[in-house]
Amino acid sequence: LSENNAIDFEAELDTHFGIAHTRWATHGEPSPVNSHPHRSDKNNEFVVIHNGIITNYKELRKYLVSKGYEFESETDTEVIPKLIKYLYDNRENEYVSFSTLVERVIKQLEGAFALVFKSIHFPGEAVATRRGSPLLIGVRCQYELSTEQIPVQYNCGKTNEQEKNLLNRRGSTNALHSVHDRLAVEFYLASDASAIIEHTNKVIYLEDDDVAVVMEGKLYVHRIKRKAGEDPVRVIQTLQMELQQIMKGNFKAFMQKEIFEQPESVVNTMRGRICFDSNTVILGGLSDHLKEIKRCRRLILIGCGTSYHAGVATRQILEELTELPVMVELASDFLDRITPVFRDDVCFFISQSGETADTLMALRYCKQRGALTVGVTNTVGSSICRETDCGVHINAGPEVGVASTKAYTSQFVSLIMFALMMSEDRLSMQQRRLEIINGLKKLPELIKEVLALDDQIKSIADELYHQRSLLVMGRGYNYATCLEGALKIKEITYMHSEGIMAGELKHGPLALIDKHMPVIMIIMRDACYKKLIYATISKMAYKTIELPQTVDCLQGILSVIPLQLISFHLAVLRGYDVDYPRNLAKSVTVE
Ligand code: F6R
Repeated sequence: LSENNAIDFEAELDTHFGIAHTRWATHGEPSPVNSHPHRSDKNNEFVVIHNGIITNYKELRKYLVSKGYEFESETDTEVIPKLIKYLYDNRENEYVSFSTLVERVIKQLEGAFALVFKSIHFPGEAVATRRGSPLLIGVRCQYELSTEQIPVQYNCGKTNEQEKNLLNRRGSTNALHSVHDRLAVEFYLASDASAIIEHTNKVIYLEDDDVAVVMEGKLYVHRIKRKAGEDPVRVIQTLQMELQQIMKGNFKAFMQKEIFEQPESVVNTMRGRICFDSNTVILGGLSDHLKEIKRCRRLILIGCGTSYHAGVATRQILEELTELPVMVELASDFLDRITPVFRDDVCFFISQSGETADTLMALRYCKQRGALTVGVTNTVGSSICRETDCGVHINAGPEVGVASTKAYTSQFVSLIMFALMMSEDRLSMQQRRLEIINGLKKLPELIKEVLALDDQIKSIADELYHQRSLLVMGRGYNYATCLEGALKIKEITYMHSEGIMAGELKHGPLALIDKHMPVIMIIMRDACYKKLIYATISKMAYKTIELPQTVDCLQGILSVIPLQLISFHLAVLRGYDVDYPRNLAKSVTVE
C-alpha cells in the first residue's frame, strides 16, 4: 500500500521465505541433529522439511553413502536433500529448474510425504509437493479480498513477460494457474489449516503429485503427470470456520474425528514396520533388545483404562506366538499388590500420553527390580518414553478427545506387531503369522466398512439413549472389546455400563437381566462362537449389526468401533460434552 493507502501495483516487493517443521520423532530420538530442516551439506545448498515417512530411505541412504555423502542424522528425511544435491551436481550442463529437480527426486521416493525445498542455487524460490501426506497453501493479501478478487490466472504465462519466461525456462506446459503478488500476497504452506488459520482463511488444497513453486512473490502450481480429462485447477477455498472447528473438520467432536481417523492411524502405526513382501516385521525401537526379550521368563503388560484393555485384547495372541506366560496388569493394582518382579521379566508400559502417574510409578518399580522395561506410547519425548529401556511409538497422531479411541486400535496393532516380530524364526508359526500379516494389510479397508455402518449404529443409539444401564457381553478375543466398550459408554454418556465375560454370566451377572435391561452381545465367528450362541438366544436379538470378518486375533480392532460410535451418539443424544467428560482429564498425572 502506498502512503495514501492506495494499492501500488508497481511497488517493488521484498519477498521472504522461511521453512520450519515440528515432526514426530519417528526415526531417531528428538534432538537438534534429527530436527528439520535437513540439509544436503554443510553449506546448506539444499534444505528440506518433510511430513510423512520415506519407506525406502535405507536403500537410498546406502546408495548415497556409496557416492560419498556423509549423513548427520538418523532420520529418513535426510536422504531427500542429499539426493537433490546429487541430481543437481550430476545434471551435465543441461539447465534444470528447481521444480524439475524436485520431480526427479520424488520419482525415487517410496512412502508418504509432503515436502518443501529451498536452495542457495535458486534464491527467492521454494518448491513444495506431496504424495500421501496433506499439503495446503494459505493465501493472504495485505487487504481483505474476496475469493473472486484474488487474481487467479489459469493457463498462466499470458499476463506478464516475466512469468512467460519463467515458464519457458522451466519448460512447463502444464502449469495450472498463478496467484499474482501485485497485492503483496503472502503464501503459507502447511499440512493442516489449523496451522495457518490465524493468518488467512483462503486456502488451496494440493493433491498428490501437484508441484507448487513460490517464486518472486508468485505462486505456480502444476501437476507432474496430468491424466486425460483431469481438472488441473485447484480452487482457492474460503474457510468459514474458527480454529477449533477447523481442527475438528466436519466432525462434531474430536472423539468422532479420531474414531473416523482409524483407517489412517492404523496405517501410520504399521508404516515402515511391516514388509508385506517378505512377511517380516521390524520394530526399530526394540531391535537392539530382541535377543534379551526372547530369553525372558515372562511378559508383563501394564497400563490403565483403555491402555490396559489393549493388553487384555492382545494377551492371547502374545501367548500363542511367543509361547511365554503373559500377565496383564492394572498399574495401580500391580503396585498395591507389591507384585514380585524379576530381572528376567520384560515389562511393557502401555500409555497413550506416556505421562500417566500410576503407569510411570509401576515403570520405576519394575526398573528398580532389574526388569527390562518397554514403552508403548503415543507421545514422543514423554516420561514413559524417556524412562524405559526401549519402546514402540504407536504413531496414531495426537489424540485430543478425553475418551481414547484411535490410540487403542494403534496400541492393539503395535502389540500384534511385537508378537509377529518375536515369532519370525519359528517355523511352526509361519502359517499363522502369514494369516495375521495378511489380515493387517486388509485392516484399513475393513475399518472403513465398519465406519460405514455409522447410520445403523446411530439409529440404535436413538432407541437406547434414555436407558439407565447398558451391559456389554462377550468372551475370548472379544472380552477386551466388552471392557473397552463399557468404559467408553460410562465415561462419556454417564450411563451405568459393564463389560461382562459371557462365560461368567451364570455365576452372577445373569441376575441383572430382565426384559428391561439392554444388552449388547459381541459375537464373532471365532472359537467362542458356538458357546455364545448357546449361552444366548441370538436369533431373538432385537437388532443386529454385522461386521466384516478378519483373523480372530484382529477382530477386536473392528468390533470395538461400533461401541466407540454408539457411546459417541449416546453422549450427544443425552446432551453431554463428548470431548470433555465431567471429572476426567486426558492425562492423569496424579496417583
Ligand atoms: C479412557 C481413557 C483412560 C486412559 C487412561 C490411561 O477412554 O482415556 O482410561 O486410557 O487414563 O491413559 P494413558 O493411556 O495416557 O496412560
